[in-house]
Amino acid sequence: MLILGIETSCDETSVALIEDGRFIRSNYIASQIKLHAEFGGVVPELASRAHIQKLIPMVEECLAKAGISLCDVDAIGVTRGPGLIGALLVGVETGKALGFAAGKPVIPVNHVAGHLYAPFLVSDDPGYKPIVVDGGKRCDDQIGPDGPLVYPYMGLIVSGGHTSLVAVKGPGIYELLGETVDDAAGEAFDKVAKLLDLGYPGGPVIDRLAKTGNRRRFPFPRPMLHQKNLDFSFSGLKTAVLSVVRDLGVEAIRADEQLLADLCASFQEAVTEVLFRKAEMAMKQRRCRELAVVGGVACNSRIREAAAEYVRGARVVFPAPTLCADNAAMIAGLAFHMRDGHGACDLTMNAEADLPVSRPS
Ligand code: KG4
Ligand code: ZN
Repeated sequence: MLILGIETSCDETSVALIEDGRFIRSNYIASQIKLHAEFGGVVPELASRAHIQKLIPMVEECLAKAGISLCDVDAIGVTRGPGLIGALLVGVETGKALGFAAGKPVIPVNHVAGHLYAPFLVSDDPGYKPIVVDGGKRCDDQIGPDGPLVYPYMGLIVSGGHTSLVAVKGPGIYELLGETVDDAAGEAFDKVAKLLDLGYPGGPVIDRLAKTGNRRRFPFPRPMLHQKNLDFSFSGLKTAVLSVVRDLGVEAIRADEQLLADLCASFQEAVTEVLFRKAEMAMKQRRCRELAVVGGVACNSRIREAAAEYVRGARVVFPAPTLCADNAAMIAGLAFHMRDGHGACDLTMNAEADLPVSRPS
């Protein structure tokens, strides 16, 4: 079964073709980073307009390069939420128009649920291989025929808009266990980068600068770690970085390469430790020993490396970086499992900015 995926929830326009819910035939991603960089963050109106310009040409290219037409796909999977409402509407309405014109079912998919599904996608391209860490050791080749994880597993979603722990009981069956009470982890990376004048998005820049830094130089707080609940909070950590920036001055920090690296590394380590300690608490509570770390922040090199140090008694899976960032492959992949009950194109389907993960469709 061939599903065409459409993803437009934030600042990436993406179109993909996925076979039988797992095999990536193609996965096109057009990033809008350059468009939003000068504003220091995503401008919703500009994002929607860019999706409108890009989406149809990308669908055409995706089908043409695969040597097929819309008639050859079995269904269309589209992100219905959560995300920026204007951006979501472009994908939802385009998906419905295509589905109606070609007589294909249109399957709505929850974006966060899509991220949680990303570890299961496979490709002939080695760049799409997930990282697997078990009991502190890398074992990337230990992947069963059904994927690197077995249900139920724990999902840690870390992106620009979300930081949550979710018990994944099956494709489309989720229980939210905890989430951030203020900033998302990616938002914290972006805001700290802004304080240091490092540009947008901040995550990749901090990741790069932190590589030569001393993680212990600044003893930043590990928020919420001593509370029994599974919620996160990152705004206090950002304020702690702000107070160092105020004390030392941005110019002085920027002029001292080592100081900048140490500051980035210390901040990144605080985020990393909180994420893994909370994930461990969640796994202990649920007696679960498998963890998927997904979302844009899961691209972070220290977080990927630190899984072996912080999570000893469990298996941790990171999808390839392209599948951690927003992409349509994860949407089309999950749509395959959500296809029941979507016989004809439902023209009443609507986008929903705050769609909770407990409603996967
Ligand atoms: O999942 P994503 O592409 O979009 C959302 O759904 O939000 O995540 C984007 C977020 C941004 O905040 C970006 O700074 C962060 O992921 N990010 C990173 C890295 N790469 C992207 N954060 C830390 N380290 C990275 N290498
Ligand atoms: Zn996302």
